[in-house]
Amino acid sequence: MSAKLPPTILRFDSIDSTNLEAMRQARAGASEGLCVVARKQTSGRGRLDRSWHSQKDAGLYFSIVLRPALEMNFWPLLPLMSALAVSDALMKSCGLSTDIKWPNDILANDRKLCGILVETVETVNGSAAIAGIGINLTSASLPNHLRSQATSIEEIIGRKPNGEEVLTELLNVIAERYEVLQSAGGAEHTLREWCAHSSFAFDRQVRVSLNDDSFVGITRGLESDGALRVESADGRIKIVRAGDVTALRPLG
Ligand code: BTN
Repeated sequence: MSAKLPPTILRFDSIDSTNLEAMRQARAGASEGLCVVARKQTSGRGRLDRSWHSQKDAGLYFSIVLRPALEMNFWPLLPLMSALAVSDALMKSCGLSTDIKWPNDILANDRKLCGILVETVETVNGSAAIAGIGINLTSASLPNHLRSQATSIEEIIGRKPNGEEVLTELLNVIAERYEVLQSAGGAEHTLREWCAHSSFAFDRQVRVSLNDDSFVGITRGLESDGALRVESADGRIKIVRAGDVTALRPLG
């Protein structure tokens, strides 16, 4: 995906999931940069097999086909790169300052504003990554049980943003961040940038949960593949590659 080429955009009024459609397109040979956008998803997918609420026009729901020129061990940096791009785009298009919770949740006022799901798919042209992004534009249709943990751009800036403007900005910054990631020293740069944009990178007391297991510890930066280093109570560093991270102590 070149930073200069405008991507091809496929638009749907309603679809099961933009990630699923982007996977189907990738399997059928779609080029890098193909972007699938929908006004509504009937089976929006989230991390850890969760679903993603996708009411019509309440959010920006889209997925991009990537064919990274990166060694496989750096592919886990794609979600971190995508989170940085969302953070850049929200600042540029809405003046919104956000935080990144490992690995790629975008928070505003400690509540979730955007989720990112990067999935890999095997295709006739080799492995591809599908970067799916869901941004809450308005809170109107958020289910009650999510209201204390989720927020929207509208709730924060006081008006519903123009989704098309946010999308255009995002596609530009994704192209830039993606090009940097694939350049010499790009992985280290992306890791440094992620740490600079996330209050979760260092010295944050968190609970890490995966399935029925959980432990509490203090964050100690990232591994070279983007895994989170967490120091547990016995002083040992645990390397977290999956699961949910929750802050135990708000900043400040
Ligand atoms: C998460 O935080 O759990 C990730 C949510 C990702 C949601 C987006 S919406 C567009 C794309 N299509 C999907 O089915 N999921 C992603």
